[in-house]
Amino acid sequence: MTQAEIPHTVPALPTQGRRIAIVGKGGSGKSTTAAHVLAHWGNIGVPCIGLDTDKPGEDEDGSLYSWANLADLGAPVYPAPSQHQIASESARLTPEKGLCLLDSGAWERKTGGPHLAVLAAADIAVFALPPTRMELERAGSVLGALAQLEAVGARVPRLVILQTLVNPSAGSAGRTRLALERAGHRVLSTVVPRSDARDGLAQAFGRTPRLVKGSALEDLSYELLHLAAEEAV
Ligand SMILES: Nc1ncnc2c1ncn2[C@@H]1O[C@H](COP(=O)(O)OP(=O)(O)OP(=O)(O)O)[C@@H](O)[C@H]1O
Ligand SMILES: [Mg+2]
Repeated sequence: MTQAEIPHTVPALPTQGRRIAIVGKGGSGKSTTAAHVLAHWGNIGVPCIGLDTDKPGEDEDGSLYSWANLADLGAPVYPAPSQHQIASESARLTPEKGLCLLDSGAWERKTGGPHLAVLAAADIAVFALPPTRMELERAGSVLGALAQLEAVGARVPRLVILQTLVNPSAGSAGRTRLALERAGHRVLSTVVPRSDARDGLAQAFGRTPRLVKGSALEDLSYELLHLAAEEAV
């Protein structure tokens, strides 16, 4: 699996900072990705915070906030504000010239959940999407939500798609990328592989994220950083 060269440099961010939200179906790897990206940003000195927007106490608690209470993620992580305060809280907490990473709970098709509020609060929405046919067919409700925001004149974040839980030996990531790009979507060049090894991402919850040089999550942290800087122009 080849990934385009992503510069490992730290570009300047705008004074007011940038907000990046991770959205996607339940179990698509949002919180795992968020924890590692935060840890990488913290490690290279990017001012950053995490903001959980997952409703607390629903099912088993695997949220970013509960992870941050178990291990050092290299950046402060704040608990979920009430739905109508997501935009104001994320704006208030975003560090100057830095990044606020919003982790969200499992995407729900029904309206009235926090997802529209999360999308409306973000400059960039990262849609975590495992490249399987079923996930692709279900992607419409996320894309539809952005159209819904647009229709009511709300702020609409820039959408990018992140392929997650990718089986490196299958060709599905490449095919999915082509299909999405043909449909006009931006697909990040980094893909997050499925890693079920004993010390892999499947076992990462509650532990200090490992900062692995040359890993997909290191690449992703730089790719998102550059995207956020690009938004500034
Ligand atoms: N790249 C990966 N490789 C293997 N396992 C992974 C990977 N990313 C996440 N997992 C595992 O998949 C499960 C779901 O991951 P995670 O909690 O990050 O997903 P989520 O999208 O945040 O879920 P939710 O919608 O419930 O918040 C966890 O057990 C996690 O350890
Ligand atoms: Mg989660």
